[in-house]
Amino acid sequence: MTEREPIGVIGVGWVGAVTAACFAELGHEVWARDIVPEKIESLSRGELPIHEPGLSELITGNAERLHFTTDMQEVVDHAQLLFVCVDTPPTYSGDADLSRVEAVIAELGDSDEHALVMKSTVPVGTGRSIQRRREGIGYVSNPEFLKEGSAVADFMNPDRVVVGANGGSEQYADRVEALYTPLGAEVVRTDVASAEMIKLASNAFLATKISFINEIANVSEELGADVREVSRGMGLDDRIGPKFLQAGVGFGGSCFPKDVQALKQLAGNSGYHFQLLTAVVEVNELQKRRTIGKLQKHLGSLAGKEVALLGVAFKPDTDDVREATSLVLAGRLAGEGAHVRAFDPVAGAKAEDMLAGARIVESALDAIDGADAVVLVTEWPEFRELDWTGEVKRRMRVPLVVDGRNFLDREQLVEAGFTYEGIGR
Ligand code: UDX
Repeated sequence: MTEREPIGVIGVGWVGAVTAACFAELGHEVWARDIVPEKIESLSRGELPIHEPGLSELITGNAERLHFTTDMQEVVDHAQLLFVCVDTPPTYSGDADLSRVEAVIAELGDSDEHALVMKSTVPVGTGRSIQRRREGIGYVSNPEFLKEGSAVADFMNPDRVVVGANGGSEQYADRVEALYTPLGAEVVRTDVASAEMIKLASNAFLATKISFINEIANVSEELGADVREVSRGMGLDDRIGPKFLQAGVGFGGSCFPKDVQALKQLAGNSGYHFQLLTAVVEVNELQKRRTIGKLQKHLGSLAGKEVALLGVAFKPDTDDVREATSLVLAGRLAGEGAHVRAFDPVAGAKAEDMLAGARIVESALDAIDGADAVVLVTEWPEFRELDWTGEVKRRMRVPLVVDGRNFLDREQLVEAGFTYEGIGR
């Protein structure tokens, strides 16, 4: 069996942990470095600081091949391909903050025996500028398309693998491509700037698709159509496809809002006004305002009203609340004088400090008790299993449900005497 290339991973957050564990699972020796000693200690014990299905099993199952360290030298001594997976959060202006990427480059000094394999989402042009400033170092753009909650499966079954390199780094690009051969996916070999744009454009397009179906939902409400039927009919056209065509209270998470802003900003910095993305962001905000509007339509002033939020995480199967719709709704509702109780099966603890104006409670029924309205924000399967027509109806003061994900059984609820508001139906 051919000797598998040793791999370095720099930055062991969500992307780094998944990348390190999956490459170890593919048989590679992996040195994963993070600057946070506590994180390295817990990972070395096989404990995960995040909720990601299947990841901890991969980490414990490949412990002999996975080396977690805070020492950069240990990584560069063992591996030439260095996957950069550090955070690139948005700055105030919406540009991506590249300070952690720059810190990695500075730490590597003037080594010319290594290649940076960029997995962090960076603005288009970042790779070119790094190569211009650091001539000796190899540079490959290898963006990730992992979704939270299914990241391990997404890594192991990619729709495509994008490998971008310019001139002198082609040999490194060949080696990066070879790492993914066992996965049998289509490989897009291209230049660095195009690879960087594929990442941003893919996320921006998915966000656009969501805002489009959300606008269709809003119009459907006025015209009496059912957006779920509409997206079913649209999705069968393989030029459109059914995925990411679910209307709701808006997209959140650590990627879509950030990448849409970053691409809009990037275009603006180069003198181009990206009109579509401006609308994508506005529609995403509108969905939250319309949700509040639906509550006011039935309850009038929300001052003193008890409102239950079911779901805090930005989507199911994750404990991530970054840019979650729930945060905005809780803040707005509190601003209207409502008393907000929120429940989430896994993200409650993480949201405690971020959910301004709301109280995190221990169960869905605790949130619903005496409520004038329930807003379903995150479509956790257990919310469907609640005894809506019995226990829930008994406990609510006013049987009003705003189903922010069109997730519940409208007919059953209406039959049981609930007032039901969906999104576009
Ligand atoms: C996303 C991209 O999917 C992934 O490829 C990229 O690497 C990182 O960003 P993630 O942020 O984990 O992944 O979440 P995703 O599953 O894409 O959902 C993003 C948001 O869109 C969530 O808030 C979700 O609720 C919302 N969404 C998704 C909809 O409102 N409607 C849909 O049909 C799909």
